[in-house]
Amino acid sequence: MCGIVGYIGTRQAYPVIIKGLHRLEYRGYDSAGVALINENGELNVYKAKGKVADLERFASQQDTKGTIGIAHTRWATHGEPNQVNAHPHFSQSEELAIIHNGIIENYALLKQSLIEHGFHFRSQTDTEVLVQLIEFIKKTNGTDLFTAVQLALSQVIGAYAIAVVEKSNPNVLIGARKGSPLVVGIGDDEFFLASDATPIVEYTNQVVYIGDEEIVKLERGKELKIKTISNVEKTPEIKKLEMTLTQLEKGGYPHFMLKEIFEQPKTLSDSMRGRVNIEKNNIALSGFIDNKDKFLNAGRIIITACGTSWHAGLIGKYAIEEFARIPVEVEYSSEFRYRKPVISPNDIVIAISQSGETADTLAAVELAKSKGAFIFGICNVVGSSIPRNTHSGCYTHVGPEIGVASTKAFTAQVTVLTMLALLIGKEKGTLCDEKYLKIVSELGKIPDKITDILSQNDTIAQFAKTFTYAQNFIYLGRGYNYPVALEGALKLKEISYIHAEGYPAAEMKHGPIALISQEMPVVVLAPNAGMYEKVLSNIQEIKARKGKIISIVTQGDTEVKRLSDYTISIPETEECLVPLLAAIPLQLMAYHIAVVKGTDVDQPRNLAKSVTVE
Ligand code: AGP
Repeated sequence: MCGIVGYIGTRQAYPVIIKGLHRLEYRGYDSAGVALINENGELNVYKAKGKVADLERFASQQDTKGTIGIAHTRWATHGEPNQVNAHPHFSQSEELAIIHNGIIENYALLKQSLIEHGFHFRSQTDTEVLVQLIEFIKKTNGTDLFTAVQLALSQVIGAYAIAVVEKSNPNVLIGARKGSPLVVGIGDDEFFLASDATPIVEYTNQVVYIGDEEIVKLERGKELKIKTISNVEKTPEIKKLEMTLTQLEKGGYPHFMLKEIFEQPKTLSDSMRGRVNIEKNNIALSGFIDNKDKFLNAGRIIITACGTSWHAGLIGKYAIEEFARIPVEVEYSSEFRYRKPVISPNDIVIAISQSGETADTLAAVELAKSKGAFIFGICNVVGSSIPRNTHSGCYTHVGPEIGVASTKAFTAQVTVLTMLALLIGKEKGTLCDEKYLKIVSELGKIPDKITDILSQNDTIAQFAKTFTYAQNFIYLGRGYNYPVALEGALKLKEISYIHAEGYPAAEMKHGPIALISQEMPVVVLAPNAGMYEKVLSNIQEIKARKGKIISIVTQGDTEVKRLSDYTISIPETEECLVPLLAAIPLQLMAYHIAVVKGTDVDQPRNLAKSVTVE
């Protein structure tokens, strides 16, 4: 949550950091602000409630000159989302300005002590406390900014990625992180700093991922300097960015979400590239091969994740238990981290996260690691915190996912989990060769089958219009399709603001059936693989109560179609792979309903792409 960006170099900073803010806007959009030091040595701070575009409108009337600047897009935690609470925050003397992503947990205590020392506060934020503390330490100890930040952070409990500038020293920009991500880009006589690499990729592909509890000094004409909070010097590890600029643009689509839905044939091929060998009908995953014994001897697998990634984890459970015969538990990271779970050294913990930065999942990883479990990460953002904190793992390789509603990351997570389940099963001997070969061959056909489903986009857009009146939706599925029902409901909720619930189809008669009326659209996943006959009975029950049925069926189906008001057909596939196909029409349906309702599809209200606070 919250995006931070900074620049120091020879260019004008404002255009660089504003563009950077647009790229980071997916991280929060309650307010935005910039701080710039101009050539007269003035430190100008401009802030606006709302989106980056609101800030731009305001700043267009102001002096935005300067070759050093920091900028922030906020997802509010402490203090309501207004202009006063927007970042950057000044210190008391207005000599320093700070931007911050994270939470300072002991801010109340620090604030009280600063008030006793004569400090006044303008905002309700925890961030302002930090900049005041830095100023207090700087003045009382007579240190430079770098040391003052270092000493201040040693008093802070919580999570942060910060950037600080000092009016009287426009040659230095200080950054630091603990728990929230921070990347530095190294150009010619210039440095960039950001929450992720998206604001940097346009200018350089040389980056350094700043580690936890590290402080970085970006100084004109000098090498990058990194120290830990406890003053240990670190050698910067320069990495090459693989990201491209076109991946960050809409490419002619009206929304990133639609672009990302349509990218899935390619992203799934990318997830499988070098891993699924169609000619030899084989799967190779280096994260598995390197740790084969651990997987083969695992007593239990615990999957931990949040939101959509948790839904992917549930599908992973079905696949791993079916093929590898290892018991799997799927845990919400936020519950797992606090409920004193029983974890033993022969447990494998799989952490799933698109962003690789979700605070609860990261904490769950740390907890499981401290109990001696082997941790395997399934993440998308290369170099993010979760893959850096796991023993091994597997990237999903779908490129940047910018729409807040996760789509292509979900199908790639399911693909990776399926590959893993098949591999363990094959190596353990719990999955026979014939079935293994059949599923691997079918996996290779999934991208083309998704293309086939995407060709129904216009039809889905048409009938989606019919449902914008609805206040509630129910999504039903069984077996592998139960998590797909949950995911379909989540997609609809988050972008169209229509209340939706996912349910195991057979559970309906234990309560939710009371909700069914002719006003209630019910989306039923009824492919021919799995418990077709049983789902058919569930559909009859809905029909008898006059519910509106939208069914997802296998091509050629007539029986379910006859009972449904609307039907979307998907190609035939293996049961364990149906979620990869069935998820697509549900993504499209949620998208089109939201578009007709006129909501902000890519940046739905109250949400942020990367939830770096608990
Ligand atoms: C998905 O559409 C959501 N925006 C959200 O549930 C998301 O999946 C969740 O916050 C987990 O994020 P992660 O995969 O980056 O850890």
